[in-house]
This record gives sequence, structure tokens and C-alpha cells, in this order.
Amino acid sequence: MSELMEVKHLKKYFKSPRGIVHAVDDVCFSIEKGTTVGLVGESGCGKSTLGRTLIHLSESTDGQILYQGRDVTRLNKKEMIEFRKHAQIIFQDPYSSLDPRQTVQDIISEPLLLAKYDKDEVQRRARNLMDTVGIEKRLRMSYPHELDGGRRQRVGIARALALNPEFIVCDEPVSSLDVSIQAQILNLLMDLQEELGLTYLFITHDMSVVRHISKKICVMYLGQMVEQCEKKELFEHPLHPYTKALLSAIPTTDIHAKKKRIMLKGEITSPINPKPGCRFAARCPYAEECCNEPAALREVAPGHLVACARAEEVNGMA
Ligand SMILES: Nc1ncnc2c1ncn2[C@@H]1O[C@H](COP(=O)(O)OP(=O)(O)OP(=O)(O)O)[C@@H](O)[C@H]1O
Ligand SMILES: [Mg+2]
Repeated sequence: MSELMEVKHLKKYFKSPRGIVHAVDDVCFSIEKGTTVGLVGESGCGKSTLGRTLIHLSESTDGQILYQGRDVTRLNKKEMIEFRKHAQIIFQDPYSSLDPRQTVQDIISEPLLLAKYDKDEVQRRARNLMDTVGIEKRLRMSYPHELDGGRRQRVGIARALALNPEFIVCDEPVSSLDVSIQAQILNLLMDLQEELGLTYLFITHDMSVVRHISKKICVMYLGQMVEQCEKKELFEHPLHPYTKALLSAIPTTDIHAKKKRIMLKGEITSPINPKPGCRFAARCPYAEECCNEPAALREVAPGHLVACARAEEVNGMA
């Protein structure tokens, strides 16, 4: 097992008129080369901020991002251009992330031109990329608005692949697509991973998508990691009360299933100047006095990390 990326105590704070937003707050995790880590959690918990910070679209506040063992948190312009060849991103909404005035060919060629490939090579590569992601040649001169959602996302994927990256942050890449198209794009991403040996951080709030695509899953809550383990383990033995609630909300087709949806009550803690202590405590059905202390991520079962002071008691492991 070799880790492509190791994230250590990463923080990304934003200044806002109401205080400091702790969007990513002391996050640690790693991504094994050639695999997919799924990142889940509710809206505003910091998934996109974490993804963007990893590939340096926004600069971290503190902590380390080790990429192939090298810290990439502080890069000069030249190092940054080099790093861009390795690490890319695919966005949720290809409509707003693609320039409406550029043709498909222009969009895919842009990173190649910036990387100073000569014109013939750019054309050749752009044609190959269109092939790779399954865009018909006749659409070469089309504009984003002339394409359907699935094809637009294929263009976004081709652009991300242009410089042969190893690592791609997929930020809700299928959330805006019809269900039938979602499956096609997910399959394309998985085929590309196998062919090209890609490593993904796959951000989604859809638990069935994350189940389909990930090897390991990380669960975030208000800027922090609350649980991490292999996919099968997470679905069979969720240990954090927040993960349990997330999983209980997945619709089931089995009418005999005894699953009961856990409804979360209580107020959502603000990511602005949060108090120390477990951030989920205000909504947690199991919270007690000890939850006022910070809850560090710790290994509770082999390869299974949880940030809950009461994990053993809550799960009958004590
Ligand atoms: N540029 C910014 N300036 C100030 N606050 C920001 C900025 N970007 C994000 N935030 C805040 O950081 C927190 C995390 O936001 P982020 O977009 O990363 O969440 P998310 O998990 O991706 O949510 P969603 O599922 O809705 O995409 C939120 O409280 C958000 O308001
Ligand atoms: Mg987001």
C-alpha cells in the first residue's frame, strides 16, 4: 500500500464579518495511490474547501499536504505550474465551470497551450482526449450551451485530464445530472481510473454514489473528520453517531428492513469561532458531559478511526 497523498492537521480558515470560519479544522487523512477516497458530509461542512485546498486552488492556513512525500502547502509560481500537471479538479456544475465563449476544442486545448505544447501536438492531444472521454468529433466546434449535461461533464473531465494528472478531486461531479447520465459518468470515471491509474478524492452527499465508487470513506462534520475506514466497514459498522444518522437516511427498497431513520434534533453548531469540544454534541442523541472535551480522531477498531469520546459505549464495545 502506498499513499499518494497524506494530509496532516490541515486547516483552512476564512475571515468573515462575523468572525473566523473554521471551514477545514485540523483534518488528517491519506489517499492510497490508484484508489478512490469518498468524502461525505452535509452542506457547508467543508468538503469543497478541503478539495480545493488539497490541489492548491486556495492556500491552506496551517498543516501539511504531503504529495508523494513532499510538502506542497507552500509553492512558488514555478512549482505551482508543475504541481498543476499532477493534481486537477472536476466540478459539480460543468455549465458554470466551462467558459461559454469557448468551443469544446478550445476548452480542452487551453491547459495544453498554457503548458506550452506546440500547436500540432495540442490538436492531436485534444482529439485523443475527446476520444478518451467519449465526445463525438462532430462536437469539436460546439459551445457548452449546445451540449447536454452529460457531454458537458465529459468536456470538464477531458480538460482535467489534459496534462496527464495522477490525482483528481471530483467535487460532486454527477450531482447536477439526471440519474441515467450519472451512471454513465461514474462508469467513465471508474474506467479512466483503471486505465490511467488515477487517484480520486470523490466528494458527494449521495451515500449510494459513494458506496459505488470508493475504497475508503471519510465523513466530515463542521470542518472536521469524524470517521474514516474502508467502505464495507463503514456501511456495516458505522461507529460515529453522525455517520449512523447519515446512513439511516438512505432510502431502502426492502420493506422488511428494520432500519429506522435517526432524526437529528438540536441546533447546528456554527463554523464561525466554534467552541472547543465535540461539534456534533449539540445534535447527538448520546452526548454527555465528556463531549465538552475536544474529540480527537482515534483508531477504535483496526483501520477504523472515529472522533467520538463515547464510541465504545455507544456501540456496545466497552
Ligand atoms: N471564500 C469563502 N469565504 C468565507 N467563507 C467560506 C468561503 N468558502 C467557503 N466558506 C465557508 O466554509 C464552510 C465550508 O464550505 P464548503 O463550500 O467547503 O462546504 P461543502 O461541504 O462543500 O458544502 P456543499 O455540500 O454545499 O457544497 C461554509 O461555512 C462556507 O460558508
Ligand atoms: Mg461543496
